[in-house]
Amino acid sequence: MYTGPMENEMENERVVETAADQGDVVLETSLRPSLLNEFIGQDHLKENLGIFMAAARGRGEPLDHVLLHGNPGLGKTTLAHIIANEMGGHLTVTSGPAIERVGDLAAILSNLETGDVLFIDEVHRLHRAVEEVLYPALEDFALDIVLGKGPGARTVRMPLNRFTLIGATTKISLLSAPLRDRFGNILHLDFYEHEDIGRIIERSSRILEVIMENDARAIIAGRSRRTPRVANRLLKRVRDVAQIRGNGTITSAIAEEALQLLHVDECGLDRVDRMILETLINKFNGGPVGLNTLSAATAEEMETIETVYEPFLIQLGFLDRTPRGRVVTPRGYEHLGLAAPRALI
Ligand SMILES: Nc1ncnc2c1ncn2[C@@H]1O[C@H](COP(=O)(O)OP(=O)(O)OP(=O)(O)O)[C@@H](O)[C@H]1O
Ligand SMILES: [Mg+2]
Repeated sequence: MYTGPMENEMENERVVETAADQGDVVLETSLRPSLLNEFIGQDHLKENLGIFMAAARGRGEPLDHVLLHGNPGLGKTTLAHIIANEMGGHLTVTSGPAIERVGDLAAILSNLETGDVLFIDEVHRLHRAVEEVLYPALEDFALDIVLGKGPGARTVRMPLNRFTLIGATTKISLLSAPLRDRFGNILHLDFYEHEDIGRIIERSSRILEVIMENDARAIIAGRSRRTPRVANRLLKRVRDVAQIRGNGTITSAIAEEALQLLHVDECGLDRVDRMILETLINKFNGGPVGLNTLSAATAEEMETIETVYEPFLIQLGFLDRTPRGRVVTPRGYEHLGLAAPRALI
């Protein structure tokens, strides 16, 4: 089994103290695990990554490039930080759309030291010209720079230090094949198991120093959409309710009350999820409906529907994606307390 560096309790404690004072952004950072063995769940991925990192370390080499893909909030950014931390390299964070010109990428790449990690979030949104400069950088650790214009132009090759690229994407299908093929390791993050979400809530409540009944933890876990970010968000809001309406302890009654205030139902659906299903049923007879029509009818952006809401509705079996569009399933009708049309049964 992989064993990483030991956790430094004192270090962690200090981070937590500042976090309590500075609100949610810092809190998010303090809840983020910084070592692989603190990262809960995704056992298959962790096992692979652990071997892969230990092997590279054993050879004294930087890690091969890693692509992380999966739905929002499942831990891609967290894993990028963990990898840089465990490999002992500096982490530079950027995102596909933020690198506007080839020169921006050249500047980032030429500043990397051997073993440094470059994290490109939303790597499927890299501009084409930028992406092409990245290919030789990934493969040969070199930048091809074009000097001059027209027939007199020539290319000079500038060597780079051996770095590791970590790309993250919620939409691997939009990644070009040449880019995808240059990642030595492609890791997929799946929705979390219920027990793992429970363990994440337990860990976070320890860091936040909140006292919680086991039943309350199970209630929050069950409504977290199998997603760590949602679990942490619900925990923080339930903590607020416990503080204002209770004595600070999260009981199951407090958890229920808080979730009701947030309009999160027993499956973890919020108002927008239900609105999407209801719009499909009431305006379009349950579908099929194309994504842009659905977006216009619900006033939610296509991108948001596609990456935030749909994956979990599909996961629950309430919605189906067919070649002709989105369709509400009999289970979707049932969840809203409606009878499914005969044709569907
Ligand atoms: N396996 C895990 N164990 C404990 N906490 C986790 C785990 N994965 C994620 N988290 C928590 O969930 C939060 C969201 O994770 P993260 O920001 O890494 O998601 P992401 O996949 O990068 O999302 P996005 O696609 O929106 O960028 C983190 O702040 C972290 O606290
Ligand atoms: Mg992220």
